[in-house]
Amino acid sequence: MSLKNWDNETWLSSNSYIKSFNKFLIKETKLNKYSEILDIGCGRGKILGNLTSKLRLVNKPTGIDIEQHKDRDKRIIFNKIDAINYFKKNRKKFDLILLKQTIHFLPLKDINKLLLLCMNCLNSSGRIAIFTLATSKNEIPTFTKMKKKLSKSLKKDQKILRFINGLYPGSISKTFSFKVKISREKYVEMIKKRYISTLLNLSNTEILKGIGEIRSKYNKRINFKDKLICLLLKL
Ligand SMILES: C[S@@+](CC[C@H](N)C(=O)[O-])C[C@H]1O[C@@H](n2cnc3c(N)ncnc32)[C@H](O)[C@@H]1O
Repeated sequence: MSLKNWDNETWLSSNSYIKSFNKFLIKETKLNKYSEILDIGCGRGKILGNLTSKLRLVNKPTGIDIEQHKDRDKRIIFNKIDAINYFKKNRKKFDLILLKQTIHFLPLKDINKLLLLCMNCLNSSGRIAIFTLATSKNEIPTFTKMKKKLSKSLKKDQKILRFINGLYPGSISKTFSFKVKISREKYVEMIKKRYISTLLNLSNTEILKGIGEIRSKYNKRINFKDKLICLLLKL
C-alpha cells in the first residue's frame, strides 16, 4: 500500500504549515531566487510550489517521487522516478536537496548510496536537508496499536539518524515545530485514509478499533505539536 493520502487535505497541505515550513527552510539553508532546488519524495510538490512563488525562483525546482498525483503542483518540474535512479541521468547541481519525511523508506545501504549521489550533485555552498519525525517527545495523537508501530518506526528513525551522523559528523541538527489544531473528526478521517506510514499495514478492523479509542481518548479539538528533526549536511 502506498502513501497517497500523506499531504492530501491534512495539516501538512495547509497554507499555514507550508508557509511556516518554508520560512524555517529558507532561514536554515539561505535560499534565494537563484537557488536550484531538488525535493526527493516531493508528494504533491506543494512545498516546492510555494517556494517557487515566495522566492520568485528564476529556475523551476525539481520534485521527484515514485507516486504521481493528478493534482500535483504545476510550478515545479516533476519526475516520476525512484530517488537513486534519478541520479543515473541527472547532470544538474543543486543548492538544496530536500528529503522531507522520505529517508525512512530506504534501507541503510541505499541511504548511504543516495547521500553520496546527493553530495556529488551539490553546489559548493549547497545543503542537503533531511527532515524526519522527532524521535523523542513526539506528540502525534495515537491509539494503542498505532503507538506501538510508531515507537518501532521512531526507533528505526533514530538508527537512521545515528547512521547519517556517523557518515557525516559535521552535520547540524535543528528542530522544526508546528502547532496543529484539528477537530477530532477530521483527525479520524485522516486515520481512515491511513495518512501516515505506520497505519499502512493495519487491518480494517484494527483501524476501526483505533478510531473508537481516539474518540474516547481525545477531546473534540485536538492540539499538539508536529515536531521534525532537521539534519543539515554540506560538502
Ligand atoms: C511521507 S511522504 C512525504 C511527502 C513530502 N516530502 C512531504 O513531506 O509532504 C513520503 C514520500 O516519499 C515517496 N517515496 C518513497 N520512496 C521513494 C523513493 N525511493 N524515491 C522517491 N520517492 C519516494 C513516497 O511516494 C511519498 O510521496
